[in-house]
Parts: sequence; C-alpha cells; structure tokens
Amino acid sequence: MPKVTLINPDDTRTELEVAVGDSVMRAATAAGLDGIVGDCGGGLSCSTCHVVIVDDAYFAKAPEISPTEDQMLDFTAMDREPNSRLSCQLVMTDEMDGLVVRVADPQL
Ligand code: FES
Repeated sequence: MPKVTLINPDDTRTELEVAVGDSVMRAATAAGLDGIVGDCGGGLSCSTCHVVIVDDAYFAKAPEISPTEDQMLDFTAMDREPNSRLSCQLVMTDEMDGLVVRVADPQL
C-alpha cells in the first residue's frame, strides 16, 4: 500500500499507509492526527485539510488541482504556498508512494 509521511506542526513525522483511491485527509483523520481537521468531510468547502507538498516531483504526480480547489486554497488559515494542496483532494495512486507533506498550521 502506498505510504505518505506527514510533517506535523510540532515537527514530528507520522507515516501512514493510504489505500489507492483514498485521500490523504481521510487517512489522517482516521488515524486521529490533530493537524488535519477536514471539517467538511472532503466536500471542498472548509479548507481545513491544507498541506504543502515538500518535493516538487510529487507535486507534479498529484491529481490536477480543480478550479474549486484552486479557489478554496485562497481561503486557508495559513497562507497558501506554491505547493499547497487540500489533502482531501490528494487521492492516492501507486505513483504517489513516498509522498511527504507538511501539515499547515493553523488550519482554522
Ligand atoms: S476536508 Fe474540507 S476542503 Fe478538504
């Protein structure tokens, strides 16, 4: 199963296995990680699942940003960065195995 590493706001790292077709947000909230809120359950209406992809190569492998996600990224609590994504839209593929993301702080 593909793995993702989340760099938490306190600089600890959490490695999670994420099933292909599942989102990073769902895996993180199921694991009880506080840094990812995911208030809207992946409905692209809360922006509380903000992460920054550390490696540009993985940013290119990630699913394309939809116009709605692009708009929502302008309303995140932490300022948007060039590699910002909403983790509910980061749906895992085998190609994304090894993804590392920094959890945005704050989310609210
Ligand atoms: S969980 Fe709400 S926008 Fe991602």
